Amino acid sequence: MLRFVTTNEGKVREAREYLPEPVEQLDFDYAEIQSDDMGAIAAEGAREAYRYAGEPVIVDDAGLFIDAVDGFPGPYSSYVEDTLGVERVWELAKREDDRRASFRAVIAYCDGEEFAASPDPVDREERRGQDLAASDRDSATTDEQVVEGELPVKLFEGWVPGRMVAPRGEGGFGYDPIFEHDGTTFAEMSPAEKNAVSHRGRALAKFADWYAER
Ligand code: IMP
Repeated sequence: MLRFVTTNEGKVREAREYLPEPVEQLDFDYAEIQSDDMGAIAAEGAREAYRYAGEPVIVDDAGLFIDAVDGFPGPYSSYVEDTLGVERVWELAKREDDRRASFRAVIAYCDGEEFAASPDPVDREERRGQDLAASDRDSATTDEQVVEGELPVKLFEGWVPGRMVAPRGEGGFGYDPIFEHDGTTFAEMSPAEKNAVSHRGRALAKFADWYAER
């Protein structure tokens, strides 16, 4: 059984559309680290979720990147949706001539085991150890450091280009009504239509292929 650890039902709906095996939602709100690197955010989330669930888990970290404002809100998309709201993000984007934007998603998988080499990257918690000298790392003996070194996380990334538009559509979630891809907003698409082109669909496709082998 694969657990999708998220409080967002919309993400789970999309994963179920895509993955052949059952996906169970585990409604656990893991702490998100602050970072510009979505892979790092997802990897830390997957570790915390795996420690909590004790079973194979995936988590997903996603964001909207608006070209004209240097990729804002990017890794801060969740905070910006909660504080400004989607309508005001559109108000900000509509002042710009360049309306191009993209969505990015990173799916992070952890089951407590190592991974064989594949093109998709593995996060090995090097950030936490990077302030230790190599010799200190080798002789690190605290429980915390030993456990951290034992939880590699596999990352699968996807992105989709589009443009910012005035809100349209009733489906989806988050920024879907103001993001248009090929003339249709994500909120105007069914989950299957969105998955066929979306950042999450692309990341899920990579994950599904790899997971079938595992
Ligand atoms: P997180 O990945 O749950 O941290 O989500 C970051 C923010 O992006 C939240 O505000 C979500 O609502 C939004 N978001 C994530 N994925 C999507 C998507 O597929 N469509 C629209 N908004 C999304």
